[in-house]
Amino acid sequence: MSLSNTVVFLTRFLSTIIIILCITARDSLELHLPSSNGTSASPPVSSPLQLLIHDQYVLIDNGIVGLNISKPEGSINGISYNGVDNLLEVLNPEFNRGYWDLVWIGNGSIGKKGSLDRLEGTDFKVMLENEEQIEVSFSRTWNFSLEGKLVPLNVDKRFIVLRGSSGFYSYGIYEHVKGWPAFNLTNTRIAFKPRKDMFHYMAIADNRQRYMPLPDDREPDRGQELAYPEAVLLVNPIEPEFKGEVDDKYEYSVENKDNRVHGWISSDPPIGFWQITPGDEFRSGGPLKQCLTSHVGPTNLAIFHSTHYSGEDLIMKFGSDEEWKKVYGPIFMYMNSFSNGGDDPLQELWEDAKNQMKVEVQSWPYDFLESNEFPARDQRGNISGRLLVHDRYVSKEHMPADGAFVGLAAPGDVGSWQREAKGYQFWARADKHGYFSINNTRVGNYNLYAWVPGFIGDYQYDVPVTITAGVEMDVGCLVYEPSRDGPTLWEIGIPDRTAAEFFVPDPNPKYINKLYVNHTDKFRQYGLWERYTDLYPETDLVYTNGLNDYKKDWFFAQVTRKVDNNTYQDTTWQIRFSLDAVEDSESYKLRIALATAHVSELQVRINDPKANPPDFSSGVIGKDNTIARHGIHGLYWLFNIDVPGSKLVEGNNTIFLTRTNSTSPFQGIMYDYIRLEGPPDLNKNLGLQ
Ligand SMILES: *[C@@H]1O[C@H](CO)[C@@H](O)[C@H](O)[C@H]1NC(C)=O
Ligand SMILES: *[C@@H]1O[C@H](CO)[C@@H](O)[C@H](O)[C@H]1NC(C)=O
Ligand SMILES: *[C@@H]1O[C@H](CO)[C@@H](O)[C@H](O)[C@H]1NC(C)=O
Ligand SMILES: *[C@@H]1O[C@H](CO)[C@@H](O)[C@H](O)[C@H]1NC(C)=O
Ligand SMILES: *[C@@H]1O[C@H](CO)[C@@H](O)[C@H](O)[C@H]1NC(C)=O
Ligand SMILES: *[C@@H]1O[C@H](CO)[C@@H](O)[C@H](O)[C@H]1NC(C)=O
Repeated sequence: MSLSNTVVFLTRFLSTIIIILCITARDSLELHLPSSNGTSASPPVSSPLQLLIHDQYVLIDNGIVGLNISKPEGSINGISYNGVDNLLEVLNPEFNRGYWDLVWIGNGSIGKKGSLDRLEGTDFKVMLENEEQIEVSFSRTWNFSLEGKLVPLNVDKRFIVLRGSSGFYSYGIYEHVKGWPAFNLTNTRIAFKPRKDMFHYMAIADNRQRYMPLPDDREPDRGQELAYPEAVLLVNPIEPEFKGEVDDKYEYSVENKDNRVHGWISSDPPIGFWQITPGDEFRSGGPLKQCLTSHVGPTNLAIFHSTHYSGEDLIMKFGSDEEWKKVYGPIFMYMNSFSNGGDDPLQELWEDAKNQMKVEVQSWPYDFLESNEFPARDQRGNISGRLLVHDRYVSKEHMPADGAFVGLAAPGDVGSWQREAKGYQFWARADKHGYFSINNTRVGNYNLYAWVPGFIGDYQYDVPVTITAGVEMDVGCLVYEPSRDGPTLWEIGIPDRTAAEFFVPDPNPKYINKLYVNHTDKFRQYGLWERYTDLYPETDLVYTNGLNDYKKDWFFAQVTRKVDNNTYQDTTWQIRFSLDAVEDSESYKLRIALATAHVSELQVRINDPKANPPDFSSGVIGKDNTIARHGIHGLYWLFNIDVPGSKLVEGNNTIFLTRTNSTSPFQGIMYDYIRLEGPPDLNKNLGLQ
């Protein structure tokens, strides 16, 4: 592995030099060669901090990293590191290299999708300058003369450089004041554009990293737009090895819970550019919410809030009477460099970035921020307890909620955390005995929510939780009773909120991303929705209990069938099963958990494919656009459907699952799990109580 990687690296190294030479000749950029002893492994910790304030920009330097930030706007013009005077894209205008932004809708915003606001500061302030730390602020205060022009928020963007630190921190404080205009906020983030002549290798996880195409490869002369603009087939890329691959930023999305470190590596000089998010209390939608990370550009994003994989439900809607304040971040932008000696610079830089992530996690919540809005550890509270599951059809005894996700989020209904975005959320996982502790939560009022892999539905502790500074709250033993009326007659899938266990087809060989060939995340390939029509050109999926295996025979998404270029058909899947005995007068229960829904109505019919109305309809639900974004889940839905015994027969039965409302290839649902329960009084026969 190391030998072949070294060869790849050297090949890259040479081609990078060629690209750099071309660019240098063309644009006469100055590029420093790596200094022979420059490594981040042994930073010159004694270097003093420097802050130089010019008319239009501010320079902060700690001897390792130098920041050039526009004043008073607060966008990052440059990051110097390890002999390179700017790691950011010097070909871009200065405002388009490293910046905060948001998208808002309201009075004065433009277009259906809203207006982009770069949150340019109007006021610069030094918050702290001493031997250990420099913190600067670029803020903008809203007033009614700005109504209809700028998002009605006060925004304060901060940057921090510490002595001896190989990077910098950034966080922002947003505030909506009562009486200001109502507006909707759909997206906010920090975006970085590292330079494309250097950063070619991208890493977002141990098994999700690769050399990436150049942004030029997506241009019309080199790339061909596929079903939507983000997905491009590389027909004539600069690097011929990428020819025939699909590039789409959504193939690199990550769930919040796993989104801790991602970034880019330059081969020459060997430098890593990383974003580290040691705590994510400020992210929207809970641990399963998926967001963009890094993608072709090169681009590196800290997404604080987006509607991706959730849709309209996650738009933050502010009324004019609403008082709101939230701190986004801090995140840490980390730079590392490769010291001669190892034979796999890419892996060494990635491993070092992961180690630095662990270091940052250890010191979370940071205690050095110069703001009362970000409470330090001693102003926060801890909550702990134990979660058990009681499902008497699985076990007479209470079972530990092994690996449960347990979280505090804004007060709301059961499961509301997945649509919650204005507050802070704090999540932890229970150990195998069900014990959990959620530490360093902010002071405030919450509900405690949970869900347990292997069980359907959502838990909510019925006592509201109030966290005060320094509190060590022990909620004791909590018991989750997932919905259950009778014994399992049959089940399909695993209740874990994803469709990953089902059959995920190979992609069309014309549209592959080599990273995901023979990969656990096969579902991230482009165009899998079209494979349904390829596999089921005329008739739909039929699944016979006892005969079929959901891993091989249950297509991961119930999508539309394409009949010609612009026409799509509803699809009806069948579950066939045999019952030895039926209790006519009893009620059976069908539980259908969905892992996503996009503009779909699910109709259920028992034994009569023409029943009108259907025995159950979900109505048209969902707009999370997960199918087009190669997710394996979006928002979670659970439907509990009564099935009168009189609808069932002894012998063979069929449940018809029809998905209607078919005008596009991206509409569909993914099942998480389906279960048919017998009537409660069958217990006796099963010897249960
Ligand atoms: C925010 O979005 C909701 C629906 O998603 C809409 O009803 C409301 O008018 C929007 N508010 C503003 C200020 O545009
Ligand atoms: C939370 O803090 C307690 C001490 O208050 C500690 O025992 C526990 O291990 C911590 N939990 C986590 C997940 O770090
Ligand atoms: C897929 O991965 C497995 C295990 O890593 C390996 O044995 C197999 O050869 C790979 N197949 C292909 C087609 O690359
Ligand atoms: C569908 O599109 C293809 C390629 O764009 C074209 O060749 C074909 O004639 C179209 N078919 C119909 C029924 O419109
Ligand atoms: C019931 O279904 C099974 C499996 O699909 C089939 O072999 C059998 O013939 C069916 N029985 C009847 C009575 O239709
Ligand atoms: C799909 O659902 C939407 C929302 O209910 C509705 O407006 C539209 O007419 C439906 N389209 C079809 C083809 O059923």
